[in-house]
Amino acid sequence: MNRKNRGRGLGEWVAGFSLIAGVGILVGLGPPSEGSGLAEPLRASTDPSTDNATQQAAFDYYRQNIEPLFLRPRGYPGSTSGNPACVMCHVWQTSVRFTLEEPIQTADGGAWTEEQSRRNYEVVTQLVDASDPESSRFLLKPLAQVAGGLRHTGGSFWDSTQDPEYQVILDWIRALPAAEFTPAEAEVAVDFQYYRSCVHPGVLSVGNYGQLACTSCHAGGQAGFAPRGRGGPLTEAQARQGFATLQRLIVPGDPERSRFLLKPLHPDGGGSYAHNGVRRWQNRSDPEWQTLAAWVRGEVTGTDCSPVY
Ligand code: HEC
Ligand code: HEC
Repeated sequence: MNRKNRGRGLGEWVAGFSLIAGVGILVGLGPPSEGSGLAEPLRASTDPSTDNATQQAAFDYYRQNIEPLFLRPRGYPGSTSGNPACVMCHVWQTSVRFTLEEPIQTADGGAWTEEQSRRNYEVVTQLVDASDPESSRFLLKPLAQVAGGLRHTGGSFWDSTQDPEYQVILDWIRALPAAEFTPAEAEVAVDFQYYRSCVHPGVLSVGNYGQLACTSCHAGGQAGFAPRGRGGPLTEAQARQGFATLQRLIVPGDPERSRFLLKPLHPDGGGSYAHNGVRRWQNRSDPEWQTLAAWVRGEVTGTDCSPVY
């Protein structure tokens, strides 16, 4: 992941969009999408001597048929129809775990160099499960929830598993060697930096709607996940302590089973039956709840506190 040279990014990209919107056509921000449903399916190899060739073929297929989908325009800022291109969020929204390289701008939109594609490939292949292709996050996030997809801040892009994009990606995942492209269990890492920069100052220290802040009651002891700074931000040691205490109350990867997210959630919205403190969220659609859930799933990291929903 390369986050160094993103300074330019979004502004120019948006400018690109409005320029195009201005002349009323939506073309050019990326390679054409035709053909995405027509790609030749890859074949999985069972012969170990062809492993390198298989790997190369899988990468070439990805580069030709899948990577361009990330650039494909699907609406533009200010538009009411359609979602923005994947790159709008997955290049420039810096707190998202699934982050792609910044494409170089070309006459017909954007493209990645082969070297960049290799780095993107590293990231994208973390989102697939070749042992159980249909369960891959890469397929489930853009898929509508009614069709079995997962809730996705970026919106849903495919109404059903019949969508040609879905099919092309599924073919590709099926051809990947399972031994190498199966995610390890318990790989979820809940980010400390995000706790220190966003969760503590933005959530734990501020009471909403006149309620007491978590820090009023949870500054110390068994459930002391919200220490109070001495008139300023937490020291590193205090933040470490609060974060360590919180571990007992979260299940990495599983917000639904994390007491931290259930206790202050209203029972009508699926929260715990009792909490001697406050009900901060009425239901799970609350943007703050969603953002914290994404953090517990390991999907947001770093110091950018913008909500993900
Ligand atoms: C409007 C912003 C936005 C757009 C556009 C968007 N996404 Fe996302 N996506 C997010 C955010 C934020 C997350 C992390 C929180 C979540 O899962 O909702 C995410 C998460 C994901 C994940 C899970 C990543 C992980 O680390 O587990 C995948 C896969 C994904 N997006 C794929 C796509 C694809 C493919 C497209 C384009 C077809 C796309 N997204 C478009 C904002 C966006
Ligand atoms: C007015 C005081 C008060 C406030 C404010 C408060 N709590 Fe609590 N909280 C309690 C008490 C007392 C308990 C222990 C009894 C219980 O479980 O209800 C508790 C328990 C919890 C637990 C379970 C702890 C465990 O060991 O199982 C969690 C998680 C929790 N609170 C989260 C929060 C969060 C997050 C906030 C801020 C949004 C918050 N609380 C605000 C008083 C408070």
